[in-house]
Amino acid sequence: MRNCFEEALHFRHACKLFDPAKKITQEDLHFILESARMAPSSFGMEGWEFWVVQDGALKEQLKPLCWNQPQITSCSDLVVLLSMKNMRSDNPHVREQFRPRGELYEKYIETYKNFIDARSDEEINCWSGKQVYIASGFLMLGAASIGVDSCPIEGFDKAKVEALLGVDTDRFEIQHLVALGYRAKEQQPRHRRPFENVVKFL
Ligand SMILES: Cc1cc2nc3c(=O)[nH]c(=O)nc-3n(C[C@H](O)[C@H](O)[C@H](O)COP(=O)(O)O)c2cc1C
Repeated sequence: MRNCFEEALHFRHACKLFDPAKKITQEDLHFILESARMAPSSFGMEGWEFWVVQDGALKEQLKPLCWNQPQITSCSDLVVLLSMKNMRSDNPHVREQFRPRGELYEKYIETYKNFIDARSDEEINCWSGKQVYIASGFLMLGAASIGVDSCPIEGFDKAKVEALLGVDTDRFEIQHLVALGYRAKEQQPRHRRPFENVVKFL
């Protein structure tokens, strides 16, 4: 299991150009999206949606809104990761997520209320957005584990992409995109700060 995970860690890189002829199978795509769906989230809130752009014409429209990055049109599938907004304790989604807690339902609501309701709307939306980044890590590692390349993309015009995709911006916002497919050329060496500069044992 460790070997498998290590392989995925080293296989994954921010793929800058995909082979447009190679498409991900429906089965593999499902596995990759399932990896994101199974990610942890604070309070088990799952305040996210994953939209998959497969239509070539739509990718062409998106490209100029995404700094003309070649990943947008060369990838097989472009995942748009959205977070839910306004996650206060009276939000029906929040209430629904606590439903499986059964008799602890009220207790969870109370704890959540204390945790979230003192924060500003901006802070809550930011908290919600952070959860999506965790799901994104799972998505990319899930992809790498079956030999699928990825590139996370924050280089895009948020307002324009949300308008093009018809995002209901009262309820959702796009956090970032992840392009998925198969590398067109070998990956460049990856740079990382040394382990001892990053990790501190206390
Ligand atoms: C949230 C996020 C947004 C990113 N946005 C872009 C992007 O818009 N375009 C791009 O080419 N790479 C993007 N990257 C990739 C990073 O540049 C890359 O992960 C980093 O340089 C480390 O390289 P590696 O992933 O190949 O190890 C992004 C990475 C993250 C985590």
